[in-house]
Amino acid sequence: MAPKVLVIGAGGREHAIVRALARSPQAPELLCAPGNAGIAADARLLDVRADDVAGLVAAARDEDVALVVVGPEAPLVAGAADAFAEAGIACFGPRAAVARLEGSKAFSKSVMEAAGVPTAAYEVVTTVEQGMAAIARYPVVIKADGLAAGKGVVIATSVEDARATLEAFLVQRLHDTEQVVVEEFLDGEELSLLAVCDGERAIPMAPAQDYKRIFDGDEGPNTGGMGSYSPVPGFDAARARELCAQVHQPVIDELRRRGTPFHGILYAGLMLTDSARGPASAGHVAGSGTPSVSVLEFNVRFGDPETQAVLPRLRSDLLDVLRRACEPGGLAGVELEWDPRAAVTLVLASAGYPESPRTGDPIVGLDAVPAGVEVTHAGTRRREDGAIVTAGGRVLNVTALGADAAAARAAAYAAADSIAFEGRQLRRDIALRAVTTTGSTA
Ligand code: AMP
Ligand code: GLY
Repeated sequence: MAPKVLVIGAGGREHAIVRALARSPQAPELLCAPGNAGIAADARLLDVRADDVAGLVAAARDEDVALVVVGPEAPLVAGAADAFAEAGIACFGPRAAVARLEGSKAFSKSVMEAAGVPTAAYEVVTTVEQGMAAIARYPVVIKADGLAAGKGVVIATSVEDARATLEAFLVQRLHDTEQVVVEEFLDGEELSLLAVCDGERAIPMAPAQDYKRIFDGDEGPNTGGMGSYSPVPGFDAARARELCAQVHQPVIDELRRRGTPFHGILYAGLMLTDSARGPASAGHVAGSGTPSVSVLEFNVRFGDPETQAVLPRLRSDLLDVLRRACEPGGLAGVELEWDPRAAVTLVLASAGYPESPRTGDPIVGLDAVPAGVEVTHAGTRRREDGAIVTAGGRVLNVTALGADAAAARAAAYAAADSIAFEGRQLRRDIALRAVTTTGSTA
C-alpha cells in the first residue's frame, strides 16, 4: 500500500516538498495542511492550520499517515514534533527542545560556543544600557531573541540607530522578547547550507544562495527571500562536506551529548570570506586567527526559497531520506545524489510586499508555463469563480533547470515573464552572481 505522507505548511517550500515526494518511487499518497491553490493540484488538502498542533495530530491519526513533514518553524518551536511523537506518528522535524536553535538566538549562540562552531562575537543583553555598552564599533547587528519572521535582525549603523533598535526590542517588546543578542557585523558572501540529520549525523544537501532584499542589487528592505539558485560556484560536494563537518556535525554531536538529539533539517546561514571558497584544503579554516566561515544563524527546517531550487536537483528518494532521518542513526550509509544541472528560482511577489502586500489580484498565464519549468505556489487562493488570485506577500516561485546557471536563469525569466498579475514584483538579478563567477560546482 502506498504510504500516506502529510506535509504541514502553505508556502512555496511546502509545494516543492510535495513535488519532490511525488517523485518518490514509493508513490506516496500526499496530503497537505492547509496548503494553497497550487498544492491542491498535487496533494489532498486538509483544512487544518499549520499552528493548530492538536488539530494536526488528530488529522494525522484519522488519516493514518506514515510520515508527517513539518515545513515552517513555528509549529516545531511550539512542540509539533513532540506531539506527533507522543501520538506515535513519525514526524520529520526536531523537537521543541532543539527547535530553540531557531527560536532563540541566545540559545543558538550558546550551543555554537559549546560545540566550537565559528560564529560572530556577541553578547546577550536585557537592557538598552547593557546593549549600548556592548557595542564596540559600527555597523553592529542587533537580534531579537525569538521568532520574528525575518524582522528581528537589524544592522545598526549609528548610535541613534542602535539605541532606537534596542528600545524597540527591549522596551516596546516589538517581538515579545526579553533579551537581545548584540553581535559583531561580518562582511562577506552568504551561503545556505542545509543538512539532513538523524540525531547522530548530518548529511549536507546541495549548497544554495538566496536573495533577501526586495530590490535588485540587494537594495531595500529584507523579505522572506526573492530568489535562489543551486549549485553555488566554488562550493562543490567536497567543500559542502567539509563545511558540514565543521559546522553542522559538531552541533549534532553537542545536542546528542545533551540528550536532545536533532532529527530534521539543520539549516546553517553562513557568512564566508574570500578564503572560504574552495578548493578544499584541510585546516585552512580551523586554527587560523580569523575564521573564514562563520555561522550567522541556524534554522531548523527547509529554507524558503532555497528548497525550491535545491529539491528539483535531488535524485535520491526524498521520502526514503526523510523516513530514515526520523530513526536514530537511520541515515547510516546514505549519500544524497544530485542532478548536475543548475536550478534557478524566481519569486513573484505581490504589490506592496514586504510592508503591506496587496491580495486578491487575479493571476494570468499559469497555463502557459513551458515543460521543464516548475511553478510552485506560495500566497495563492482559488476564488469561487475558479480564478487563482494573490493571497500573500510571496505569490509564486518559478524554478528552471538548465545545463548551467545562465541557461537556467534564461528559462526561469522567460517563464516568469509569461505570468502576470497587477503590481507583480520580480528581481532581475537572481543568480547573476553564479553566471559571472567561475568555479567548480556540485
Ligand atoms: P538572520 O535572521 O539571523 O538570518 O539574519 C538575517 C540577515 O541579517 C542575514 O541573512 C544576514 O544578511 C544578516 N546578518 C545576520 N547576522 C549578521 C552578522 N553578524 N553580520 C552581518 N550580517 C548579518
Ligand atoms: N531563505 C531564508 C529562510 O528560509 O530562512
